[in-house]
Formats: sequence, structure tokens, C-alpha cells
Amino acid sequence: MTVASRENVRRFAVCYSGGSGIAYGIRLVEVLLDAGHEVHLCATGAGLRVLLHEAGMSVDPDRPDLASLFEPRLRSRLRVHALAAVEATPASGSAGIEAVVVVPCSMGTLARIAHGFSSNLVERAADVALKEGRTLVVVPRETPLSALHLKNMLVLARLGAVVLPAMPGFYHRPATVEDLVDFVVGKILDRLRVEHAIVRRWGASSPPASPWTEDEE
Ligand SMILES: Cc1cc2nc3c(=O)[nH]c(=O)nc-3n(C[C@H](O)[C@H](O)[C@H](O)COP(=O)(O)O)c2cc1C
Repeated sequence: MTVASRENVRRFAVCYSGGSGIAYGIRLVEVLLDAGHEVHLCATGAGLRVLLHEAGMSVDPDRPDLASLFEPRLRSRLRVHALAAVEATPASGSAGIEAVVVVPCSMGTLARIAHGFSSNLVERAADVALKEGRTLVVVPRETPLSALHLKNMLVLARLGAVVLPAMPGFYHRPATVEDLVDFVVGKILDRLRVEHAIVRRWGASSPPASPWTEDEE
């Protein structure tokens, strides 16, 4: 992956809420930092509970030490904010945050973003992205989906947000959980226009045999 030069450093906000799939959020931040970008990170209380259940990491909500999720060499461009810090950088439209990604996005946070609650830093960061016409990517995770969940996703899509469900494909022949995670993270990076090579693209060299190709021959 190409590392951004100083003038090409971009600022992103990544928010972890209480949906399952914290691995997607961790991997996204890792790749963005590794590419040399600045990442502002915030988690909801439920997001921290999921972190405990899915990654075995216990975090103080008032002083979330999320930096320890990442290798020391990656931490210099990471800024971690408490959920209550509504004065933090991602809360302001003038701070130059280019895009906000809520990953994983719980149905609760999704609903509150769709209806403009802005009651904590995660919801406010998303609200700012919408009002400024910047990229907002939400990565919802729930199954099955109720009509209310679908309605809230439609509200967000109509407001211009990218609704990118945590639905990995299998055509790249994943062999590990990491391959499945990278499939979804690759899709997010594409929407952020961040160059990456974490997933082999369909049609790239050595593609897996395609059932469609066989039919055509
Ligand atoms: C381990 C774990 C997994 C969860 N998975 C989901 C999920 O996939 N989707 C969802 O909407 N809520 C899920 N929840 C429930 C949410 O965390 C809960 O509704 C919470 O209130 C959401 O709060 P938040 O939106 O402030 O993060 C999960 C909770 C836990 C502890």
C-alpha cells in the first residue's frame, strides 16, 4: 500500500457502535493508519461492550485507551475521543474531517443518526458529515432486519449516506475470518477512495474459476 506524503494526509473519523463485528472497525483503522492517514476514533458504550465480548478487551468508557488496539508504529496519527466529548474534532464541520464511517453500526445508532439525534460524539460526527455533504458510511449489522431497520436505512440512503451492510461476499474464496473482514473493509476503503490491495478484485490476475465462464465456453 502507498503511504500518504505529508501533504496527502487525509482526516477520517471512525466510530464503533454496539453492532457485532468490531473486527471490521479495528481493521479499517489499522489500514487507514498504515496508509499514513489521520484517524479520529470514538466508540459508544455498547461498542466498548462488544469490544470486550468479541476482542476480549476491557476499556474505561471515560478514558478509552483504544490506541492499544494498534501497533505502536501506527499510533502517531490516531486521536481517540470519549463519547461525551462533543467538543472534539469530529463534532465540528470546520475541522476538515473528510469522511465518517460508523463500523459496526448498531440499529440503535443507525436510527438516531437517521433522525438527527446528535446526542453523543458518534451521532454528532455523522450528523456533521450529512450537513456538510461529506461522505458518511454506515456499516449496519443485524439479522433479520425489521421494517423499521429498513426504513431507517432508506432514510439515510436518501440523505446521501452510503449504507454498506457487513455482508461479505464469497467469490474471492475466503479461507480465513480475516479474508471475510477484509472483503467488507475493502468495500469501505473503495467508498473513501483510499487505494488498497487487501482484497483481490474480481477480474484481477489469477481469478478463481467462475461458474459463469464455464457456462459460456
Ligand atoms: C456482543 C453484542 C453484540 C451485539 N450485536 C448487535 C448487532 O449485531 N446489531 C445491533 O443492532 N445491536 C447489537 N447489539 C446490541 C446493541 O449493542 C445495543 O442495542 C446497544 O444499545 C446499541 O447502542 P449504541 O447504538 O449506542 O452503540 C449487540 C450487543 C452485544 C453486547
